[in-house]
Amino acid sequence: GGRKKKRNKKRKRDEPADHPHVPEGPQDPIEVPEKPVLESQPENVSPAAPVPESKPKSRPQTKSKAKPLNETKTNFSSLREKAKALYETRRKLPIFAHADDIRQKLRDDDVMLLVGETGSGKSTQIPQFLVNEFWCRPTPTKITQDDGTQKEISVGGCIAITQPRRVAAISLARRVAEEMGTPLGSSSPASKVGYSVRFDTSTSPSTRIKFLTEGMLLQEMLHDPWLTRYSAVVVDEVHERGVNVDLVLGFLRNLVSGTKEGRGSVPLKVAVMSATADMESLLGFFREGYSLPSQEQKTKSNGSEAMQSKDGDSRDISVCHIKGRQFPVKTIYSPEPVHDFVDAALKVIFQIHYKEPMPGDILVFLTGQETVEALEHLVNEYAMGMDPALPRIQVLPLFAALPQAAQQRVFAPAPPRTRKVVLSTNIAETSVTVSGMRYVVDCGKAKVKQFRTRLGLDSLLVKPISKSAAIQRKGRAGREAPGQCFRLYTEKDYLALDETNTPEILRCDLSQALLNMKARGVDDIVRFPFLTRPPREALEKALLQLLNIEALDESGSISDVGLHIAKLPLTPTLGRVLLAAADNGVECLSDVIDIISCLSVENIFLNTNSEEKKEAAETARRDLFRREGDHLTMLATAQAYATENTDRKAWAERHLVSHRAMQSVMDVRKQLRMQCRQSKLLPSDDRRTNASREPSPVLILQSFLRGFATNTARLVPDGSYRTVVGNQTVAIHPSSVLFSKKVEAIMYNEFVFTNRSYARGVSAVQMDWVGEALAG
Ligand code: CDP
Repeated sequence: GGRKKKRNKKRKRDEPADHPHVPEGPQDPIEVPEKPVLESQPENVSPAAPVPESKPKSRPQTKSKAKPLNETKTNFSSLREKAKALYETRRKLPIFAHADDIRQKLRDDDVMLLVGETGSGKSTQIPQFLVNEFWCRPTPTKITQDDGTQKEISVGGCIAITQPRRVAAISLARRVAEEMGTPLGSSSPASKVGYSVRFDTSTSPSTRIKFLTEGMLLQEMLHDPWLTRYSAVVVDEVHERGVNVDLVLGFLRNLVSGTKEGRGSVPLKVAVMSATADMESLLGFFREGYSLPSQEQKTKSNGSEAMQSKDGDSRDISVCHIKGRQFPVKTIYSPEPVHDFVDAALKVIFQIHYKEPMPGDILVFLTGQETVEALEHLVNEYAMGMDPALPRIQVLPLFAALPQAAQQRVFAPAPPRTRKVVLSTNIAETSVTVSGMRYVVDCGKAKVKQFRTRLGLDSLLVKPISKSAAIQRKGRAGREAPGQCFRLYTEKDYLALDETNTPEILRCDLSQALLNMKARGVDDIVRFPFLTRPPREALEKALLQLLNIEALDESGSISDVGLHIAKLPLTPTLGRVLLAAADNGVECLSDVIDIISCLSVENIFLNTNSEEKKEAAETARRDLFRREGDHLTMLATAQAYATENTDRKAWAERHLVSHRAMQSVMDVRKQLRMQCRQSKLLPSDDRRTNASREPSPVLILQSFLRGFATNTARLVPDGSYRTVVGNQTVAIHPSSVLFSKKVEAIMYNEFVFTNRSYARGVSAVQMDWVGEALAG
């Protein structure tokens, strides 16, 4: 095959502007073969492909931003060596035997459904099976423009793989890059594998396989409704059934079955993958899209269901089942109901560590960042007092808001004579695979978003998981050898669990989903192809919410404000706040970005549950606390952290602030500022050195009220707070700086329901501001 010409493409729209690009980098080290590679050869790792030996030529003299040479230089031969070594592991994955079959199915049909147990190799291998297919290359085609004239464009060439979670998107991209022997994302212009998640996009001009969150694909569709960059979209982990995947499926169904004018004659291939066997509803869903004229035309052929569409083409939807490898896993139930699962998990971890042989790592499923961090602390504390003759314990947390570097550590093998204990939220259920696990400890609960219709907002509730989730969790212990699963609940409780998870679309706030549809030009929500139709009431609530924040006009059409909000990587409410802040001036916007960044993590402060710790925390944080409430306190914390330039970690420890959370906050802040500069909300030379400037609490809180006017409560004569909308009693959460304070009215960020209703993220506001905000 001929070498590709040197490329010097322009930066793609979704790449960070301040990324130092190297236009004349080394050429692709790995050839794209003309024909699909034979099964006997490692795919994409053609040993004959020459390795570029010459150093990259002239480097751009991008002033201070360019990385030192040794950081951007990619050692292609070592990447290739590694890929070759990994090929042996890949070959043994259950999916490998199906490679030809899968390729054939997608050559014949546009849609394929694939069921395969977690770990069978779906996410990592499918894109590699498809990337060298003849249909997966940029193809010139003619499209008709709005004014009726024709235009030639290039369509396709890339594969998108969507993931419900950002952690999975990034770790899969990293893995697939390794397997293909290509650098990852923006690290090299020759990289073939990239990823895109909220606040972090890493792609190159040569990206052919892109892992992205469902939300990011929806964002891309706002700019490119026909997905002209892609030859195929692989929708992974559909069994998770978040709202975004339902939207993605709806849009894709329209794309494969409706008119395709935006793609000319180039088809879009769609593969939908799931870890659970329930494919019936998906099959029905995609079939419906093919507008079958009559039942008689339906034929059956070798396992796939063929049918005729209106235009007479025979269209198939193939279904492919992949059996995974699963060793037996013994289940051990708790004999008694467990009240404190953090404590119970601690005991079980050490019971395993003392009694069970090595090797064998432990995977613990908990509910969220807070329980993960609490247990992390306890396990480390106990491990210090352990008999030194015992193997060591390495505790590794895993949750969505964890900074990337810390997430990556989870996948690294444990050092010698060390047992890894991974403390995870339900991320590790099916999204990511951590090898070496023999013991699973399952608390039986997960944090889920739940829409509380009476209050008109989402809240996070800790709920029992479903049976199917419990089975997935258990299965994690039997991937490489027989294992054990310790359920921190009784067998009776297990039997009482729901069979499957309820799709999120049935239980959460739909305003973001609705805004996205409106921004995509879907005006008639009722006719949108939903895999599961949300209740009418929830749709109406969402419409009302969007009207409240002026994202829609009275006729229900999207407004300019709405369009702008839809393009921000924020919830509609926070998007509204950001725009309102921009109206209040650059300084207000800067401050609001800092606060929104803090809101993107679960908690910037370390947990201080015990009384003595509470006192210590109060002293340590005194100079950060603001009487206006949590928003201004977050601002003070973010700014103090950002301006600390000697030792941020020590500063965080001194103030009982989570250094880890603040690292994420700083990442998000950087991304949001960049995005605001790009959309001209912030001046391009804004570097904000004026840290001594005092913020304006009134402007900041009034900006927040533009999004959160309905998240307010006023003080009533009996000393309690009642919500302004709905007249519900609500108390200020003990974690708030306003806890037990009495002010005229409060605005809150989040509503949590434990044994009573709490407002979290609380600030003091005036009733007439609330009135103004409600009036619009
Ligand atoms: O998608 P599915 O659950 O079927 O499997 P996969 O994610 O493609 O994972 C297949 C195998 O690749 C796993 O069993 C791991 O051995 C490996 N893998 C990895 O080492 N690191 C990752 N980030 C992802 C997968």
